[in-house]
Amino acid sequence: TKIAIFASGSGSNFEALEIACREGELDAEIALVMTDKPASFVIERARQADIRGVALEPKAFPTKQAFEEALLAILREAGVEWIVLAGYMRLIGPTMLAAYPSRIVNIHPSLLPSFPGKDAIGQAVAHGVKVTGVTVHLVDEGMDTGPILNQAAVPVVEGDPEKTAQAIQKTEHVIYKETLQKLFKPVPANN
Ligand code: GRF
Repeated sequence: TKIAIFASGSGSNFEALEIACREGELDAEIALVMTDKPASFVIERARQADIRGVALEPKAFPTKQAFEEALLAILREAGVEWIVLAGYMRLIGPTMLAAYPSRIVNIHPSLLPSFPGKDAIGQAVAHGVKVTGVTVHLVDEGMDTGPILNQAAVPVVEGDPEKTAQAIQKTEHVIYKETLQKLFKPVPANN
């Protein structure tokens, strides 16, 4: 299964997925990493992993649709079948959604529908929840909405967003590769 990973930041999820592919835990080929932030560290991680990095800035295009059409041309040319968002801080528009119906996946650092949007971990800690977690879901036109594929609970480290974030990140790096593997290699029911 050929996938493209979209990221806007550090790219630790990209790195975890790249290792999983290389070690045979995830039957997928990362055709490219796309970022809307050329200076983001994920591009450096892609370079280190010898994976094609594509930086495309929406502001270089007259409309969001033009941006997505340019991106789609690159994805089609690379034979990308699934889009995997990993810290991609933009909404996917109708042009992209129509081209990849139910083929775009996202990971979010909370138990959706609680705490959608930015700084989900900070929201959870501020709210005083005792348990938060990670959600993997299919992407629809909303923000952090769409059908939930998998979740894992992560205890909040009382009043310590940083320690809580570290625990969440460890969980993310496991749940994403496991969930994607089930998508790409459904295990036949032994009935
Ligand atoms: C992760 O917490 C992910 O759930 C959220 O953004 C963060 C990306 O982290 N969408 P990284 O860039 O993969 O390290």
